[in-house]
Amino acid sequence: MSTALNIQNLSKRFARGKLALDGVNLTVQRGEMVALIGASGSGKSTLLRHVAGLMAADATPGSLIEVDGRCVQRDVRGIRSEVGFVFQQFNLVDRLPVLMNVLVGRLHGMPWWRGLTRWFTAQERALALDALNRVGIADCHGQRASTLSGGQQQRAAIARTLVQGAKVVLADEPIASLDPESSRKVMDILARINREDGCTVVVSLHQVDMAMRYCPRVVALHQGRVVYDGPSAALTPALLRNLYGMQADEILNGSAALGAATPAQAPAAPAPQAAPGWPTPLAQAA
Ligand SMILES: Nc1ncnc2c1ncn2[C@@H]1O[C@H](COP(=O)(O)OP(=O)(O)O)[C@@H](O)[C@H]1O
Ligand SMILES: [Mg+2]
Repeated sequence: MSTALNIQNLSKRFARGKLALDGVNLTVQRGEMVALIGASGSGKSTLLRHVAGLMAADATPGSLIEVDGRCVQRDVRGIRSEVGFVFQQFNLVDRLPVLMNVLVGRLHGMPWWRGLTRWFTAQERALALDALNRVGIADCHGQRASTLSGGQQQRAAIARTLVQGAKVVLADEPIASLDPESSRKVMDILARINREDGCTVVVSLHQVDMAMRYCPRVVALHQGRVVYDGPSAALTPALLRNLYGMQADEILNGSAALGAATPAQAPAAPAPQAAPGWPTPLAQAA
């Protein structure tokens, strides 16, 4: 296996002094599907945005973000074509047809004048239709994006990353605004592109049960630090209580299978690691 993401000593302090990431170290192998969990404000979005080159990290000594061996801090443009980003609020252009929105994924590989005139080849259109077909919404290709349901819009956003040819897909709470049925469809599609296209997927999720069902490996953040990194099957109620505090009961109710989960694939994760002072993962407790 080769390394898709290599993050070393990543810190980010925002202008008003808030330390959003505090010395994060994380490596993800090619072809993994990893869930990023943690309470609101724990740093999930900030971490994903740094990996996508959408934010500049603090200049901490030894700080490094690499995607497929390429340093994000030095080659943001190169990274933009490799990394697909799926946002909670879909980020489609409402008034453009779905097919056009998906073709926007091609713009990085296109001369600027063609991007400006929004002119695409027949081959590119076929590629976009194929991507829409794979996410199950080819019928909607001519509709304005604003006329699609939330779940359909999110599927179009995933089709955009397929057309982009992204090797790494980062999804920031992609199902937070969706109903359970649409959420399941979106997670199924992310799992499919992971399995069939070998895309590395890192997905932040509020729903721990979804993380456990779809992702063999979970990384948990608390106040900008990685406090757990290991198989989702080894997560414990104690760790989740520490992670989510007051919200834990609501989150635990949706995770009845906690401790007995069988993720979709064999765990590709390293042995579970909990930060000092954090509850011991199941595999270590046994
Ligand atoms: N642009 C910003 N300016 C100042 N503080 C920010 C900004 N973005 C995020 N933060 C702060 O950084 C912390 C981590 O935020 P975020 O990464 O959005 O967490 P999460 O996605 O886990 O909810 C929070 O305390 C948040 O308030
Ligand atoms: Mg967030």
